[in-house]
Amino acid sequence: MILALETSCDETSAAVVSADGAVLSNVVSSQAELHARFGGVVPEIASRRHLELVLPVVREALGEADTELESLGAVAVTQGPGLIGALLVGLSAAKALALAKQLPLIPVDHLRGHVASLYLQPEPLEPPFLCLLASGGHTLLVDVVERGGFRVLGTTLDDAAGEAFDKGARLLGLGYPGGAAIDRLAGEGDPEAYDFPVARVPGLDFSFSGLKTALLYAVRDLSEGELERRRPDLAASYQRAIVNALTGRAREAVEQTGASKVAVVGGVAANSELRRALPEAAFAPLALCTDNAAMIASAARYAEVVPFPRYLALDAYASG
Ligand code: KG4
Ligand code: ZN
Repeated sequence: MILALETSCDETSAAVVSADGAVLSNVVSSQAELHARFGGVVPEIASRRHLELVLPVVREALGEADTELESLGAVAVTQGPGLIGALLVGLSAAKALALAKQLPLIPVDHLRGHVASLYLQPEPLEPPFLCLLASGGHTLLVDVVERGGFRVLGTTLDDAAGEAFDKGARLLGLGYPGGAAIDRLAGEGDPEAYDFPVARVPGLDFSFSGLKTALLYAVRDLSEGELERRRPDLAASYQRAIVNALTGRAREAVEQTGASKVAVVGGVAANSELRRALPEAAFAPLALCTDNAAMIASAARYAEVVPFPRYLALDAYASG
């Protein structure tokens, strides 16, 4: 069994996963409400909250899995990318737990973690496949040939898809984080009402900053009353543009690589329109789309194990 910690952004999470990928527990404590009044994650506040939550969350994960530190084979932790202070809380806690119980440590890359959310029970996906990773911090198309890694085919040149959702939600007055709120409101609107642009960038890369500006202009042209009335249409059209950008590029990547399987992971994989728009794709289960430690434990099974005392020198990294 592996105990994993994930503290890269505003979710404090601990999970216990077995060697064959069964999730024995996956405790996620979200700080979203704490950051909502600031309209986004405040790094220093996130670090302090992780510090308060990390041990209670670990205790709960061990309890739910009905196990104890003594029964574990390794401790895994997100090493990066993410907020550096937030990452350091998880990394320090993981080092301390491993040291106390003479366990090895497995540092995990957050993006590999998202992809590894597909390798958990009850329906683990087998490479090769093409994977769209769309979250608040990243938007990537990757070629996965084996569980231990991937090759990047395309990435965003500016905002991530989840960031586009969050910034759009803010312009529409929907609060933070905004992806799920736009998803809900879009269900009541007409996706054809506004013709928002899909950026044309070379290769398999993405760009979402122009779309955000287009929404800004559309909102600015409306009176308060009109905005209230058109908000569902704006949400639906904006969501449609993001989904079209993601699915368009995913299909081009399939054509270029000849991939026979497509998968979607990351927070934006929870989007209901995206799930409908790619019926042929494998999606990570809803609970494993947004940040969680079970996916980190899953990736740890295919990552390098660092023995004591070498892991004490490990540092976190903010960007990949
Ligand atoms: O993977 P994640 O938890 O964190 C990062 O690694 O960044 O992704 C969070 C992102 C946020 O931008 C959030 O707005 C978005 O996922 N998200 C959604 C939905 N649920 C969460 N975006 C669109 N539709 C959703 N239903
Ligand atoms: Zn993430």
